[in-house]
Amino acid sequence: MPTDSNNIASARAHSNIAFIKYWGNRNHRLRLPANASLSMNLSELHTTTTVEWLPTLDADTLAINGAAASQAALDRVSAHLDVIRRRLGIRASARVSSTNNFPMGAGIASSASAFAALTLAAVAAGRANLRERELSTLARMGSGSAARSIPPAFVEWHAGDTHESSYAEAFVHRDHWALADVVAVVSRRHKQTGSTAGHREADSSVLQSARVAGADQRLADIKAAIKSRDFGAFAEIVEEDSNLMHAVMMTSKPPLFYWDPLSLRVMQAVRDWRLGDGLRVCYTLDAGPNVHCICEAADAAAVVAKLRELSPDIEILQSGVGRGACLMPAKAV
Ligand code: DP6
Repeated sequence: MPTDSNNIASARAHSNIAFIKYWGNRNHRLRLPANASLSMNLSELHTTTTVEWLPTLDADTLAINGAAASQAALDRVSAHLDVIRRRLGIRASARVSSTNNFPMGAGIASSASAFAALTLAAVAAGRANLRERELSTLARMGSGSAARSIPPAFVEWHAGDTHESSYAEAFVHRDHWALADVVAVVSRRHKQTGSTAGHREADSSVLQSARVAGADQRLADIKAAIKSRDFGAFAEIVEEDSNLMHAVMMTSKPPLFYWDPLSLRVMQAVRDWRLGDGLRVCYTLDAGPNVHCICEAADAAAVVAKLRELSPDIEILQSGVGRGACLMPAKAV
């Protein structure tokens, strides 16, 4: 690779919310997931990352939102840069700087957007031009859900059984369905067990094999519901899949309880609003207490109003359907 000062690139990737969840790996090192998953990129929640390969640097450096990152964060990023170094034949260290436009520590996943943006920026700064499919497999090595933040809009991650066959691709176009994610932030408490540790525990639940056995059927059903924009069918599958993942979490050894009392209140209210009042909204939760209320964009204001009425303790973030990872004008860091 060239060693002049132009080995710099910036990329932006969006966070995503899974409708069919990734939980548990068949291979932890390669992050080959136990089941295929499906998600929607979130237009308003993104990470922008600049990578500069510098042969004169002794070791990788990482700044997040303008401050030096923790050793643990740097180690994880460095391990991912090793994957990219090996793929591109790069020997230099990298200076990495990353900013999230959403509050960190609000329990909103940042590893998906972070590792997707890091992958694209590091590859582009190495002057390589890889196809979307390979970028997705590389991003997966940093964080499984990051594989789904490379392609645009509604994205399916094929589980695969090798590094090459486990990648994500767009399932339908962004304009196909104007869905929105109204995130009810019920707590800013840091999660006690992160996803990486949680994936390793999944198989200790007697329910994981049942969850995985039904995942392909739920995936096929939700794809049909999205294709025909059948919100009623979509809502039932999204909620069931989230409940199944949390049932696995709660029955793992040791058990993982991510919900707060307020999470459960929101979940019950969402079902009442849908089944009682006819408001087209459903819920899904990741490895945290915040409740993602999924609805059509036209109904987002009504969902926000209902959440505000339910409790003054809920903060709200709103997002539409996001694009795929893309390059940005590079900024020196
Ligand atoms: C609950 O992708 O965060 O959000 O691969 O260890 O980084 P790592 O895990 P991660 O797991 C995401 C789990 C989830 C469900 C999902 O997004 O599918």
